[in-house]
Amino acid sequence: IPVDAFDLVIFGGTGDLARRKILPGLYRRFWAGQMPDEARIIGAARTDQDVAAFRTMVAEAIAEFVSERKRDADCIKRFLDCIDYVTLDARGEAGWKELKSKCRANTVQAFYFSVGPGLFGDIAERLRSFKIARQDARIVVEKPFGRDLATAKELNRELSANFDESQIYRIDHYLGKETVQNLMAVRFGNVLFEPLWNAQYVDHVQITVAETVGVGGRGAYYDKSGAMRDMVQNHLMQLLCLTAMEPPAKFDPDAVRDEKLKVIRALDPVEADDIVRGQYREGAEPGYLQDVENPDSRTESFIALKCHISNWRWKGTPFYLRTGKRMAARMSEIVVHFKPTPHSIFGEEAGTKANVLSIRLQPDEGIDLSVTIKEPGPGGMRLMDVPLDMSFAEALGEEAADMPDAYERLIMDVMRGNQTLFMRGDEVEAAWAWTDPLIEAWTRRGSKPCSYAQGSTGPEEAMMLMHKDRRRWRELE
Ligand code: BG6
Repeated sequence: IPVDAFDLVIFGGTGDLARRKILPGLYRRFWAGQMPDEARIIGAARTDQDVAAFRTMVAEAIAEFVSERKRDADCIKRFLDCIDYVTLDARGEAGWKELKSKCRANTVQAFYFSVGPGLFGDIAERLRSFKIARQDARIVVEKPFGRDLATAKELNRELSANFDESQIYRIDHYLGKETVQNLMAVRFGNVLFEPLWNAQYVDHVQITVAETVGVGGRGAYYDKSGAMRDMVQNHLMQLLCLTAMEPPAKFDPDAVRDEKLKVIRALDPVEADDIVRGQYREGAEPGYLQDVENPDSRTESFIALKCHISNWRWKGTPFYLRTGKRMAARMSEIVVHFKPTPHSIFGEEAGTKANVLSIRLQPDEGIDLSVTIKEPGPGGMRLMDVPLDMSFAEALGEEAADMPDAYERLIMDVMRGNQTLFMRGDEVEAAWAWTDPLIEAWTRRGSKPCSYAQGSTGPEEAMMLMHKDRRRWRELE
C-alpha cells in the first residue's frame, strides 16, 4: 500500500548513513510502489553543490547498494526526479530560507537528522525559528542518543523544546528487523508460548549479537563508546524488552512502549562479577588497540553479562546478554531455554532434555524449537532432541528474499505516522539510567577488558560466567 505523498528532508544527506541506508532504502520502496512519484526527498548538507551533483551521488549509491534486479533505468530516473538538494549551514543562517521555499503545504512533512547529536538542538531550533516545520512535522533521529543519562536528557530537552514527543521518531534499527517484529507475533499471536513464558517454565534466556567485523574505520567513535554503549544500551536492551514485556493491550505505540519501559525499570543492577568485558587481540587482522590507535584503551569490543528482571513474571530467571566484534560468526539470536519436565517417567538412563526456542534474527532468519522425542530404534526408551525448524527463507520463498530492510520499514512507518517501532524519550533515559552505574563502576575500578582471539566466541571468562551457573552459551554458527 503506497504511503501518502511526503516531503522528507535529510540533514546530513551526503553522509554515510544516507548513502548506504536511507537513500537506497527509499529507492527500494519506490521500486516496490510504496513511495509515490509525488514524494520529495530533499538532501540538506554543508557541501556546496547543485541538485544535479546530489542526484549523481544518489544514483551512485543506488548502483552500489541496491541489488541489480531492482535497478531498472526508468524507475531510477523517476526516483531521481523526486530528489532535491539545499546547501545549508546547520549552525548558521545560510540555506534555511531556501529550504523553507522547497517545503510544500499539503504533504506529510518529515525531517531526518542524520547528523551527530551535537547538531540536534541547532537544527530543531532553526526548523522552528524559520517557521519551516509544521505542527504535524515528524522528526527522525539516529543513535547514539546520548552517551549517558545526562546527555540523553539534554538531547530530549533540546528536541522537546521545539517538538512534541508524538512528533519524535528515535530510530533503533534493530526494531525494524523482520524477526524482531516476529518475536511479538510469535509471543502474542500463538496460544502455545505465552502460558509458559515466565520464571516457572523458563530456565534462562540468552541474547547474542555476534559480529565478525572489527571496529573498522569507526575507531575514533567506537573507542569512546564500547560495546555497552554501542550495542547493549540500545539494540540488546530492545531485544530484552520485547522478549520479557507483558502483553500490551493493543499493538499501539504507547501501549507497547509502556510495557517495554516497565521491563527496563524492573532490571536489577548487575553485579561486577556478572559482567565480562573483552578486547580482540591482534591476529589475522589488526587487534582492537591497533584499530582504535590507542594502545592504552580500556574500552570493550565484547561484553557478556547476566541480568535479572525483578517482577512477578521473571523473578529468578536470568537473562544472559553478549555481543562482540571479530567473533567466530555473524549471528544474532534470542534463545529461550525452558526447564526440564518436573519428573522423568522414563528414568535416568533415558536422559533429561529441555525444550529450547531460538529466534534467529540474522543470518537465515527463522524460528527453531527443539522438541524431545524417542531415539528411533529398538534400543529402549532413550530421549533425543529434534529441531522443529522454520527458516523464513524456506517457508516464505520469494517473499522472504524481498523483505524490506530495517531502514526501509522504519522510514515508511514514519511516513505513516506509526511510532510503535521507535523509542520513546523516557525509554531511552531509563536504559541509560540502568547502564550508567555499570559503566561508572568498572571505570572507577579501572578494570581492564580481558583479551580474546579473533574469530573466537569471546574471552574464556565469558564461558565461566555461564559455567558457574552450570549453563553454556549456544554455539556460534
Ligand atoms: C550499529 C552499531 O548500531 O549496529 C555497530 O553502531 C554495529 O557497531 C551495528 O556493527 C550492527 O547492526 P546489524 O544490523 O549489522 O546487526
